[in-house]
Amino acid sequence: MKNIVLIGFMGSGKSTVGCRLAHRLGYKFVDTDYEIEQVTGLTVAQIFAKHGVKRFRGEEALLVSKLMHQQDLVIATGGGLVLRPENVAMLQQNGVLIGLKASAQTICSRVRNKRTRPLLARGNLRENVERLLRERQAAYDVAEFSVDVDQLTPEEIVDIIYHYL
Ligand code: S3P
Repeated sequence: MKNIVLIGFMGSGKSTVGCRLAHRLGYKFVDTDYEIEQVTGLTVAQIFAKHGVKRFRGEEALLVSKLMHQQDLVIATGGGLVLRPENVAMLQQNGVLIGLKASAQTICSRVRNKRTRPLLARGNLRENVERLLRERQAAYDVAEFSVDVDQLTPEEIVDIIYHYL
C-alpha cells in the first residue's frame, strides 16, 4: 500500500499522530528528523549550527529519495521538507500527502523548547511562526487532505485520517 505522508508546520503534531496512525494501520513509522539524526550522528540543531540549513535540506532530499522506494510507511516529515518541490513529487509517487494545520497560537504553545528548532531559536517566537506560516502556506497546500488540529486530540486526528484513507 501507498505510504501516508504527514506534512505541516513544526508543532502541528506530525510525529505524535504519525506514530499512532502507523500503529493503527500496522505500518512502519518513520520520522524524517529522527532518521537524519541517526544517519549523520548529529542532532537537527547541530546540523544547522555546524553545516547550515542547506546541508539539512540536502539530507532531507537524500532520505526522501530512499523512502520513495518503500511502502507501508507512515512518514512524519520535518516542517520544511515540502519546501522542495522535488521532494513533494517523489513522495507523491508512492504516497498520500496529509496536512496537519495548526494556528500560530497552538504552534507557539507547543514549540516551547526552541533549542531543538533552530529556525525558531532567535527573535520573537510568535512573529517568526506567523511569518513562516505565511511563507509556507502554498507549500502545505499540496496535501490532498488536511485536518485542522487545534481543537482535536491526537486520537481524534488519527481517526479522521484513518476514515479518510
Ligand atoms: C523544520 C522543522 C523541524 C526540523 C527542522 C526544520 C522546518 O521539524 O526538520 O528544525 O523547517 O520547519 P518538525 O516539523 O518535526 O519540528
